[in-house]
Amino acid sequence: MICNKSKGLRGEITVPGDKSISHRAVMFGSIAKGTTEVTNFLQGADCLSTIDCFRKMGIEIENTPEKILIHGKGPDGLSAPSSVLDAGNSGTTTRLISGILAAQPFETTLTGDASIQKRPMRRIMEPLSMMGADISSVNGNDCAPLHIKGRPLHGIHYHSKVASAQVKSAILLAGLYADGETKVTEPVISRNHSEIMLRTFGADVHTEGNTAIIKPQPKLTGQVIHVPGDISSAAFFIAAGLCVPNSEILIKNVGINPTRDGILKVALAMGGDITLLNENHDGEWTADLLVRSSSLHGITIEGDIIPTLIDELPIINIMAAAAEGTTIIRDAAELKVKESNRIDVMVEALSAMGAQITGTEDGMIIEGGKPLHGAVIDSHLDHRIAMSFSIAALLAEGETTIKGSESVNISYPSFYETLKTLQQ
Ligand code: S3P
Repeated sequence: MICNKSKGLRGEITVPGDKSISHRAVMFGSIAKGTTEVTNFLQGADCLSTIDCFRKMGIEIENTPEKILIHGKGPDGLSAPSSVLDAGNSGTTTRLISGILAAQPFETTLTGDASIQKRPMRRIMEPLSMMGADISSVNGNDCAPLHIKGRPLHGIHYHSKVASAQVKSAILLAGLYADGETKVTEPVISRNHSEIMLRTFGADVHTEGNTAIIKPQPKLTGQVIHVPGDISSAAFFIAAGLCVPNSEILIKNVGINPTRDGILKVALAMGGDITLLNENHDGEWTADLLVRSSSLHGITIEGDIIPTLIDELPIINIMAAAAEGTTIIRDAAELKVKESNRIDVMVEALSAMGAQITGTEDGMIIEGGKPLHGAVIDSHLDHRIAMSFSIAALLAEGETTIKGSESVNISYPSFYETLKTLQQ
C-alpha cells in the first residue's frame, strides 16, 4: 500500500466491532445452551479463526452480514475436532480457547501462524496445569502448537505476574468447569470484557479489587449481544484527526470501557481536542468521539494505565512523534511479545521516517516534532503496525510504502476504505 501526505481529514465514520468482545461472544455462545445472536461482529481474520475452531468442535455457527447466530449446546456440548485447531494470528483465540479445551473429555492440538508459534504460552500452561490440565507444547518451547488433553479441573487462586486479559480469561473459562471457586489476581487490572459478558450469559463471576472470582458449573444461556465499535480501531482515526491539520472526525459508537480507554486519557493529556457525545453506560460503555486537529505535547505514560492502552501504543508512538517535546513510555515490556516485537519494530520504522526514537527495556523515548519523511515500512505482518504507519504517512513529506498492509484484515478489513472517505 502506498500512502501520501494529507491536507485534512473530515467526516463521520463508524469503526468495526470490538475484536475482544467479538471473540468472547462466539466462545461463550458456543458453550452456552441455546442460540446467541451477535450484531456488529468483527468480520476480521482473528475472529473468523475463533468461529472456525468452534465449528470444528461441532457448533453450528451461521455467519451473515447482519448477524452471527451461534447454536450452543451447553458447557458439555463440544465434540472432539477431527483435525488440528488453527487460531491463525490470534493470541486471544489461542489462549482463551485453551481454558475451555483443558476441561473437555477429548484431546486437541491447537496451532496458529508463524507469529503465534513464537508467542509465549507458558503464561497459560502454568495456571491451567495447576488446575489439573494436561497441556504441553509440542515442540517443547512453551509456544504453540499446544497439545491439550482434557481433564477434571479444580479451582485455584492464581497470582498472575502479567496484567493480561488473555491469561485471566483462560483461567476463568477453565474455572467454569472446575470443582470449586477459581480466583485470578493481577498486578494491574486488565480488560474486563470476559467478566462482563460471562455474567450476562449467567455465570457467577465478580471482582474484588484486582481479583476476578468465578464459581463453577453455572447454567449458561444464549444471549443477544451487540458489539460496540473497537476503540483500538478508532485509535488510528483519533490520532489522525488530532495530528493532521485541518481535520474534524466524528467516530460513532465506540466502546469506552474504562479498562480500555487509556488512549483517550493520553490524547487529552497530550492536549488533544476530543469531545465525548451520546455517552451510554449500560453494559459495555459507548460514546461518539468528536476529534479535531490539535497541537500535541509529549507526556510520560507508565504504570496502571499501560494495560488500558497496550494495543494502542504503536499509534501513540506516532502521536508522540508529531507532538512537541519528549514522550516517555515505561512498564510496557509486553510490547515485545505481541504480534511482532513492537518495541523493535516501532524503533526501526519510525527512525526510517526521520523521527527520533530510542527503544528501552520496557518501552521507548520519543523526541517529538522532527519532520517526518516518506519511507518503505515493513509492517512485519503486524496489523497495528501497518495501520499506525498508514497514519504516519499522512504527516510525512513524500510517499510511504507499507509492506504487508494486507495484515489490516486481522482486525480492520475496511481500514483503507474508511480512510479514503475522510480525505479532503
Ligand atoms: C486481548 C488482550 C490483550 C490485547 C489483545 C486482546 C483480549 O492481550 O493485547 O489484543 O482480547 O483479551 P493480553 O491480555 O495478552 O495483554
